[in-house]
Amino acid sequence: MKPSSAFLKTGLVAAFAAPLALAGWGLLPAAQPDERVHVIRLGHGLNRDHPVHKGMEFMADDVARRSGGKLRIDIYPDEQLGNERDLIELLQLGSLAMTKVSTAPLENFSPLFQVFSLPYLFRDREHFFRVLDGPVGDELLQASVPFRLKGITYYDAGARSFYINKRRNRPVRRPEDLSGMSIRVQRSRTAVRLIEVLGAKPIPIAFGELYTALDTGTVDGAENNPPSLYTTRQYEVTSYYSLNEHTYVPDILMMSLDTWERFSPEEQEWLQTSADASSLHQRVLWEESVRESLDAIAKSGVGIVEDVDKEAFRRRVQPMYADAEFRHPQIQDLVRRIEALAGAAAPPSGGGGR
Ligand code: GCU
Repeated sequence: MKPSSAFLKTGLVAAFAAPLALAGWGLLPAAQPDERVHVIRLGHGLNRDHPVHKGMEFMADDVARRSGGKLRIDIYPDEQLGNERDLIELLQLGSLAMTKVSTAPLENFSPLFQVFSLPYLFRDREHFFRVLDGPVGDELLQASVPFRLKGITYYDAGARSFYINKRRNRPVRRPEDLSGMSIRVQRSRTAVRLIEVLGAKPIPIAFGELYTALDTGTVDGAENNPPSLYTTRQYEVTSYYSLNEHTYVPDILMMSLDTWERFSPEEQEWLQTSADASSLHQRVLWEESVRESLDAIAKSGVGIVEDVDKEAFRRRVQPMYADAEFRHPQIQDLVRRIEALAGAAAPPSGGGGR
């Protein structure tokens, strides 16, 4: 059973607990007082087979080696410490040191992250990485500092596409095919709005509860990337997966600002370097996992729909770009700068060809 967020907030998951008394949770005693081991607790919602989890395992090994064992990252997957919203709150409170969440729920805390949930803003993976690896990506990592959250790095979470459960048993090729269906969304206003403009009904549900929701018909469908559909086994209750690729929503590794500021510059450098290395390594893991996941999902009998009318989806979502809530000058500025990185053949801003 998952602990309730109130229970967690009482401080059970102390990120930086006192030595000796709380050994194993925060600071572990070592031979010399100045050689204490800093244990960093990292909570997230994916499972151990997921390529993002594997990316973070790489980081944990790398930082242990780089710091000569002085920094240790203990990873708690599967929403063991709470869902993504809980985890972000725990970071703000300083009760948890580190988390990996999707940038979608982060919008509720740090609104500029909305840009990542705007549909068809990114042309392809290369465009997406140009943005993450450039000044926009850096600025957004820093954007949550006023909210006591320190962005460390991004992980690739590919493109999100729609899938429909076995009960509805329907392929989605055009926006009209979603009409009237209830679709699970992440806790993000932008994700909710996307489903509304597509004529479906958005239902926010935590990631860990989605398998049952699809199985029992609480929702008709959902949207996600292939590794998440596969590693959660949600494909077992799925009929069709349509590769319409509406958003590229990255995952983000964050630390509690309180914890980050307690590290020495040397420790911060070890952490940052290991995290950056893991981010690059994870992109390779991601590509392999997408191939394997799609293959396994198809073999299980799920119909993979490739003949999707992406242009129809692009046209249908254009009104979102005129929504008052996405017309904040800072969001508009980010959208313009992201579009400018799309390459020479980029369509004009808001021109319907996104
Ligand atoms: C992706 C993402 C997760 C997120 C999930 C969701 O799998 O990596 O961080 O929780 O989508 O749809 O909730």
